[in-house]
Amino acid sequence: MKAVKIKKVLQTGATNTSCSVQGWVRTFRANRFVALNDGSTLDNLQCVVDFEALDESLLKQITTGAALHLEGNLVESQGSGQNVELQVEKITLLGASDPEKYPIQPKKHSLEFLREKAHLRVRTATFSSVMRVRSALAFAVHEFFQEEGFFYVNTPIITGSDAEGAGEMFHVSTLDPKNPPLTETGDLDYKSDFFGKETNLTVSGQLEAEAYALGLGDVYTFGPTFRAENSNTTRHLAEFWMIEPEMAFYDLNDNMNLAEKFITSVLKKVLTRCEKDLQFLDDRFNQEEKSKPQLQRSPMGLLEKIKFVVDNDFKRVSYTEAYEILRNSKPNKKKKFQFPITEWGVDLQSEHERFLVEKHFNCPVILFDYPANIKAFYMRRNDDEKTVRAMDILFPGIGEIVGGSQREERLEVLEKRIEEMKIDKEELWWYLDLRRFGSVPHSGFGLGFERLVQFTTGMNNIRDVIPFPRTPQNASF
Ligand code: 4AD
Ligand code: MG
Repeated sequence: MKAVKIKKVLQTGATNTSCSVQGWVRTFRANRFVALNDGSTLDNLQCVVDFEALDESLLKQITTGAALHLEGNLVESQGSGQNVELQVEKITLLGASDPEKYPIQPKKHSLEFLREKAHLRVRTATFSSVMRVRSALAFAVHEFFQEEGFFYVNTPIITGSDAEGAGEMFHVSTLDPKNPPLTETGDLDYKSDFFGKETNLTVSGQLEAEAYALGLGDVYTFGPTFRAENSNTTRHLAEFWMIEPEMAFYDLNDNMNLAEKFITSVLKKVLTRCEKDLQFLDDRFNQEEKSKPQLQRSPMGLLEKIKFVVDNDFKRVSYTEAYEILRNSKPNKKKKFQFPITEWGVDLQSEHERFLVEKHFNCPVILFDYPANIKAFYMRRNDDEKTVRAMDILFPGIGEIVGGSQREERLEVLEKRIEEMKIDKEELWWYLDLRRFGSVPHSGFGLGFERLVQFTTGMNNIRDVIPFPRTPQNASF
């Protein structure tokens, strides 16, 4: 008999007809009750076996972690805790699991422990919930942009350009590291490398997305991005997924409006589509918060936080206003900031972002018009000559979730900026062409997908919202 997904079984309810399911044993109690989970939903299906009818060797192999195919009758449950249960008539062992060695026991494991078992952690309630929410978010992202008339474009993963100008890139090469060809001056001779030039993994698809926006109008990318920054924090990955919309004829205000509408739209969708998982994660979040000292606890529960973001406008503040707020703030005056705010133009650290979002405004904040010196070369210069049309969206508990800007569409201004910042102009010839042939005002932003998943699931560490995290000194699995 063809197996049905447990999610469907639980939705359909007791039918007193035969039914078959397959999945992994979460627990086996009293030689009688199998809690089976197939990943389709948070809930397990209670399956009742008649152990007297089983042969001893099969009984022994029903252990936590084993994979079973069960056939039987779907009936109203006798016990409390579930509405239906499967009265098992036939058991097929699909894959045994040594109970002495299987690391995921039916007890609470620490997230750190589970990170080392990343190939098995999805068999826990927490990780399966997070991954279902992640999947629903990804779908909602595509849905949003498709409904808004955007086109999905795939920008290259291997590239010659450094979009962010930050130089934190992974090189891509087929040269023999033991015996690399050298030029006369002793540098690596990239001419004999695979692409005949220096290449790396992309840090952003933006530059190529701009080319496509200036032809298709409104486009978005959603792909992997790589950064070799040595940041061992709860918010940084070396490989992460980024969503980058890019829109022709948009100015910075249009850009901020779209970003806000986008985020609230996807959150709204998962609130209704992932109710069960989010309820579970909300409970989990509240438990975690309880174990923290009073002062460090989140003032809101997880669901409350999501709803708050959906229901309230983001606060829009210029860098200069934010700078004044920070400079005059209590923690700054009492020298509580690790990086004191002393002069206009300093880059904001996460402690400052958190102060603004979590203490001062108490809501998501869009900061705009940043000093040119702390932002990338492609951002549009304001008439004050000091600031650029940049915007960052800051979220409670996360910090920066979006970075974007209106792009510099004026050829001379852009060329000057590239020179000032000592960026290789030759490499950007095609990007400059876009300003030579039908240049128009345009804007875009990048949203770090894992940071969005973090916010939505309440997971504290970014390593716990991507299946197999890549971080400094860690690329297992
Ligand atoms: O602010 P960033 O560097 O902006 C860009 O890359 C632009 N080219 C985007 C654009 O305008 N099209 O990165 C955008 C977002 C950040 O706000 C953050 O959410 C995420 O990407 N991000 C990271 N997420 C996880 N790990 C990292 N190491 C990240 N670096 C950036
Ligand atoms: Mg940024």
